[in-house]
Amino acid sequence: MSEYEIREHDVLVIGAGGAGLRAAIEVSGQGVSVGLVCKSLLGKAHTVMAEGGVAAALANVDPMDGWQTHFKDTMNGGKQLNNWRMAQLHAQEAPDRVKELERWGAVFDRTKDGKILQRAFGGHTWKRLCHVGDRTGLEMIRTLQDRGVHQGIEVYMECTITKLIKDGDKIAGAFGYYREDGRYILFKTKAIVLATGGTGKAYTVTSNSWEYTGDGQGLAYDAGAELIDMEFIQFHPTGMVWPPGVRGILVTEGVRGEGGILRNSLGERFMFKYLPETTRNDYAADEAEAVTWVNAALAGTRTEARRPPELSTRDNVARAIYTEVKEGRGSPHGGVFLDISYQDSDRVKKKLPSMYHQFKDLADVDITAGPMEVGPTMHYTMGGIRVDAESQMSRVPGLFAAGECSGGMHGANRLGGNSLSDLVVFGKRAGAGAVEYVKGLSDQPKIDDNFVKEAMAEMEAPFQIKDGKNPYDVHKELNKIMSTYVGIFREEAELATGVAKLEELKADIEKAGAKGTKAFNPGWHMCRDLKNMMICSEAIARSALSRQESRGAHSRLDYPDTEKEWGTKNSACSKGADGKMVLEHTPLPEMPADLKELFVKKKEPANA
Ligand code: FUM
Repeated sequence: MSEYEIREHDVLVIGAGGAGLRAAIEVSGQGVSVGLVCKSLLGKAHTVMAEGGVAAALANVDPMDGWQTHFKDTMNGGKQLNNWRMAQLHAQEAPDRVKELERWGAVFDRTKDGKILQRAFGGHTWKRLCHVGDRTGLEMIRTLQDRGVHQGIEVYMECTITKLIKDGDKIAGAFGYYREDGRYILFKTKAIVLATGGTGKAYTVTSNSWEYTGDGQGLAYDAGAELIDMEFIQFHPTGMVWPPGVRGILVTEGVRGEGGILRNSLGERFMFKYLPETTRNDYAADEAEAVTWVNAALAGTRTEARRPPELSTRDNVARAIYTEVKEGRGSPHGGVFLDISYQDSDRVKKKLPSMYHQFKDLADVDITAGPMEVGPTMHYTMGGIRVDAESQMSRVPGLFAAGECSGGMHGANRLGGNSLSDLVVFGKRAGAGAVEYVKGLSDQPKIDDNFVKEAMAEMEAPFQIKDGKNPYDVHKELNKIMSTYVGIFREEAELATGVAKLEELKADIEKAGAKGTKAFNPGWHMCRDLKNMMICSEAIARSALSRQESRGAHSRLDYPDTEKEWGTKNSACSKGADGKMVLEHTPLPEMPADLKELFVKKKEPANA
């Protein structure tokens, strides 16, 4: 009997959230053999943590919306560091992908005349978030899962990939193990789509669950791909802060989209004082105007009033909350107050059912009767694997990436709701790109047995280490370093300390040991996960240290201004010949003149 199971597919999709599922559906829909690998059980993915909606310029509620405004909002939110072509494709194709989900059975909330209902979200000019209460990501996963399973996609559950295998420079396969019993598996394949999500578990307080250890980014980096813009980490402004066991769990932006108000311990509606000069005119000037906007939204009528300051972009709201707490105006458990209880309680329960139950069950707080306590939580990695905008292929032939593990689309800061649309737009594109690539290959790539032996030896190593480090202690130390030195506000000395401490910690990762057998052994799994988390953490810290400006989610206390010169450069990390990380600054693709025009015109473009 062989020491490992062998499976063969033309395309292997690693990661089964929204992007992975949509990619696999595309491949199988084109009649090409596809395997879908998930680290967890099928259906459990961070996609469900995008609760408040999927952004698409359908113009069902605000008829002035169109792809151009969505494109502009996305680029402005990303502080112009986005790959313009990805942002354009995303804005143009999101409406079709949402309608496709509807055709496949997603049950969206409805307007009175039966169209998909859309709500407001931070940084979006118009009400653009198509939603299913506060369970939008969950409904998307359910829909895609149904579709994929009925299309006959072969799924490998509770399976972790640890190595990508190449033939020369081309993708040839992937090696991994089943989490349940440690059984090894080798996939022979011609193309791989990585869709493994983010790296939230590198931080102490995060909305991400245990799966999110930067696996795709780590695998791609080891295989020769570049990681771009890793310094841009999104701290979602509103996570739970109390009790300690639930700290970091997401409180959807949908609460603010439905009129939720942020106040500090003095009762001040503090967001008015944090609006940047450049966007101040887009928001209500005072509480009276904000109230007029909310009343019109509740009544479904139009108003000239501007949106409330709580709907500023996430980077800005997270910084504001952090500052209020640091300056002593926080809530009892180190957050601020988010209040929607002034609205009719049946409406709150209807619009935000998960939030109602989440706070009632986990914190014994009735959000229809009083405020929630909330604070920033690490939610999303804007940077990731550099890919071609059209096909989603990385610089490694046959290696594609989509969704959070890829980079470029969101620039320096992602707008809420743009992740769900990103998943389906670029999941489909990555699937199509992989099929095209596979069809153009003349030969089946070969797998050198030595690579498989090496991959297996690497997995066995933690069992050979006597008196090794406890992998959970090492993880805790990694969390501490990232949260202390590479957090919301950054500066040179702290970042340099962070980089140095990460360097020291690498030795501990090599010494992390596993005990017992391979069956049900999460400590052993952690030994491998730590390596990917370290690659991502190092890329985040080094890129953050080198970017001497503040832009979007990257806030340098020592370089508080946004610098024109830095706006033309992506940070790009790759593995050097000596195995060390190389950081370069590469030129951003230049936006064509017709799109540049959109940023100078005063009048909104006509709906297209
Ligand atoms: O707040 C939320 O519902 C999250 C949405 C997102 O990350 O896009």
